[in-house]
Amino acid sequence: MATYCSCEDGALDYEYASSTSLHGPGNIINAKRPAHRAIWVVLFLAAFSVAVWQITERFVAYFSYNTVTSMKVEFKDELDFPAVTICNFNKYQLSKVTPSELDYINEVLELSAGFLGDDVGELGFDYDDYDDEAAGFGPEEPDYSLNVSAIPANFDLADLTLNAGFVLDEATLQECKWRGKRCYADNFTHVFTSYGNCWTFNGDDKKRLKQTIPGSGNGLYLVIDVQQEQYTEKPPGGNSDAGLKFLVHPLSEPPKIDSQGTAVQPGTHVYASIQNILVSLSSVRV
Ligand SMILES: *[C@@H]1O[C@H](CO)[C@@H](O)[C@H](O)[C@H]1NC(C)=O
Ligand SMILES: *[C@@H]1O[C@H](CO)[C@@H](O)[C@H](O)[C@H]1NC(C)=O
Repeated sequence: MATYCSCEDGALDYEYASSTSLHGPGNIINAKRPAHRAIWVVLFLAAFSVAVWQITERFVAYFSYNTVTSMKVEFKDELDFPAVTICNFNKYQLSKVTPSELDYINEVLELSAGFLGDDVGELGFDYDDYDDEAAGFGPEEPDYSLNVSAIPANFDLADLTLNAGFVLDEATLQECKWRGKRCYADNFTHVFTSYGNCWTFNGDDKKRLKQTIPGSGNGLYLVIDVQQEQYTEKPPGGNSDAGLKFLVHPLSEPPKIDSQGTAVQPGTHVYASIQNILVSLSSVRV
């Protein structure tokens, strides 16, 4: 031992090296051959450098403040006012359809609502008007086919909906205000949805309205007569509800009023507040 180590037993660095729990220094000091000592020195230095490199790298990464999500809030003075689509739960008005058209419509609605097949029983078929004996069918096999001869030859469901559906005019639109100024039925555009005729405020892409002031008095204010005495729909095909359905949506999107609309029952006051949140994603390299 004395051959390779010039340090004496009492020296501080010798004592530290031989007693530390770091393996490197102890092995270097206590190595019996120069070759072993050299290998231990190389190993120790290599491991030490890797450790230093890794620790520094963590510090550098931390102090570069890399982020995965960055948020920036911007307040705009002016926003595009969204489109507001309003539908009536009633598709056809009683005074504008003939009884045979009404029968036909109800039957079509029933069939389109999926009330067909074996397991629907009485729900899918009106047994009051049906003579089992005369038709030669038992109750298990009702005749679901439509009486086509009852329908006029040039019958057009879209035409009928347009003419007999809910109309937003001076009579039904009892009050309309946008940002305190009077608006009219002419400011609404017609759109077909699963609720028949629907009416969209601010639906014109060329004349987009801008909103500058928040608050309920500065938005769109409407009073609408739903004309409940004109209701013709009956379950299971039609709606059993009365009232309106409305949806606030971007101008660029068609109104998905069936799945996203909000229902309003007659005689109530409903407020809808909106906010515009624009999220843009950009990739950040970490
Ligand atoms: C179909 O409707 C027409 C006109 O309403 C009626 O004359 C005829 O009897 C009906 N047919 C059936 C099979 O119910
Ligand atoms: C409603 O229509 C009238 C006439 O076309 C127009 O002068 C007015 O600016 C419109 N109002 C709104 C809120 O679009």
